[in-house]
Amino acid sequence: MARKELLVSAIENGTVIDHIPAEKTFQVVNLLHLQDEKNPVTIGYNLPSKKIGRKGIIKVSNKFFTDEEINRLSVVAPKIVLNIIKNYEVVEKKLVETPDELRGIVKCNNPKCICNNEPMETWFTIQDKEHGILRCHYCDKEQNINNVELV
Ligand code: CTP
Ligand code: ZN
Repeated sequence: MARKELLVSAIENGTVIDHIPAEKTFQVVNLLHLQDEKNPVTIGYNLPSKKIGRKGIIKVSNKFFTDEEINRLSVVAPKIVLNIIKNYEVVEKKLVETPDELRGIVKCNNPKCICNNEPMETWFTIQDKEHGILRCHYCDKEQNINNVELV
């Protein structure tokens, strides 16, 4: 077998967010507020991937995200995998699931919506998970999860 080296070093404990479409890497950083993270974070960007061409990978030592945090990622990268690492081993692979609602994550694309004109959190319910249709709780406008702008 050919010698196989990790492009980014392995971690002992924590979370490896893998198979991020390369251009979404920094959106994942923002959604998980990794700018404010105190634990070590390593970010690989534009790494070669057999599955998706170029990928991003983010490793956060000693950090295990909640389901709410993980499911937020559905707005940018529904196919990513979160590997839970304990004692250098992958003990679990978590997939992102589209949540039932999204609060304070994406913008409403209706400029007249109250949430664009008052200092308040946006609030969407997921109308159709299969097709990724979100509906604004305030103005009822629908939009596709693939075209959303983050707050
Ligand atoms: N990883 C890590 N530190 C460890 C163990 C694994 O950083 N101690 C990383 C691996 O480099 C890989 C990811 O976690 O990017 C998932 O590991 P593994 O399941 O062993 O790799 P694959 O089988 O290639 O996973 P997949 O099928 O999801 O691509
Ligand atoms: Zn609205």
